[in-house]
Amino acid sequence: MSRIFFTGGSGKAGRHVIPYLLKQGHRVLNVDLVPLNLPGVDNLIADITDSGQMFNAMSSYVGLDELEIGNGIPKFDAVVHFAAVPRILIKPDNETFRVNAIGTYNVIEAAVKLGIKKIIIASSETTYGICFADGVTDPKELPLDEDYEVDPMDSYGLSKVVNEKTAQSFQLRSGFDIYALRIGNVIEPHEYEELFPHYFRNPEVRRRNAFCYIDARDLGQIVDLCIQHNDLGFQIFNAGNDENGAVLSNKQLIERFFPNVPIKRALSENEALFSNQKIRKVLGFKEQHSWRNYVEWE
Ligand SMILES: NC(=O)c1ccc[n+]([C@@H]2O[C@H](COP(=O)([O-])OP(=O)(O)OC[C@H]3O[C@@H](n4cnc5c(N)ncnc54)[C@H](O)[C@@H]3O)[C@@H](O)[C@H]2O)c1
Repeated sequence: MSRIFFTGGSGKAGRHVIPYLLKQGHRVLNVDLVPLNLPGVDNLIADITDSGQMFNAMSSYVGLDELEIGNGIPKFDAVVHFAAVPRILIKPDNETFRVNAIGTYNVIEAAVKLGIKKIIIASSETTYGICFADGVTDPKELPLDEDYEVDPMDSYGLSKVVNEKTAQSFQLRSGFDIYALRIGNVIEPHEYEELFPHYFRNPEVRRRNAFCYIDARDLGQIVDLCIQHNDLGFQIFNAGNDENGAVLSNKQLIERFFPNVPIKRALSENEALFSNQKIRKVLGFKEQHSWRNYVEWE
């Protein structure tokens, strides 16, 4: 059981990841601008763009019950940092960059200087650059894996690339474990029925995501595996499901949407073009929530 400091847990991804972590027996403090009203979740309202608040919150009790122990404030075992402006065109570009880049710097700096040796941050599939590109852009190669030279042209994707560098820099000076999850397009349980039939009828709307998705509960498993694994240093992991969120085969998708893109290895029929090989190999990720469990499609 770990005591976890979780930023941004009230959002789309966090509200499924936190219950998964609670089910594994962890204690979680959700640090967000708005609370997550779920049984078993402790909340602290704090702003990641304020360094003082991050240092203070990270050296805080999780709940009033911790006063009863009488040994002072316990230390957090891990920081999971999800708080962000989660795409372009919600806030002006400079504000998206400021909140994401400065916020992540503040969270990682406080964690490292307070001696919290496991830090997991939310990066993004958008680092690969095609998601928010101006015009239809080809990736340099497929499948998209962690060795790709990332090159986004938008402020959100750029903020996530900067965050990965920030994480790497703090890992170098501390030797702690800092893992960045390049999270695919997050799908909540109710969204399979709502969105996937539309995606299947109009596959072109998913080209910018390279047809990727991550079930929000499977993302919980990935975060938990990152908490369990130690001594990996700085790591980047794609966080996606095993197969494309598409009914077309890879042969059909590539012929139709990526005819000029080099394919760097053999791909099975529906294997994700946003590769999750590394989390399966290194962390032992085993998908629990394929779209095929939730969408009937012939
Ligand atoms: N949703 C996706 O498909 C997706 C894909 C790739 C990466 N991500 C990343 O995953 C993380 C979670 O995404 P999400 O979809 O749950 O986003 P979300 O917007 O639903 O949740 C983000 C949370 O962060 C909080 N927050 C924002 N600014 C804050 C601040 N200054 N201080 C404290 N809290 C603040 C918000 O209140 C919100 O609860 C983000 O880092 C996002 O960039 C999401």
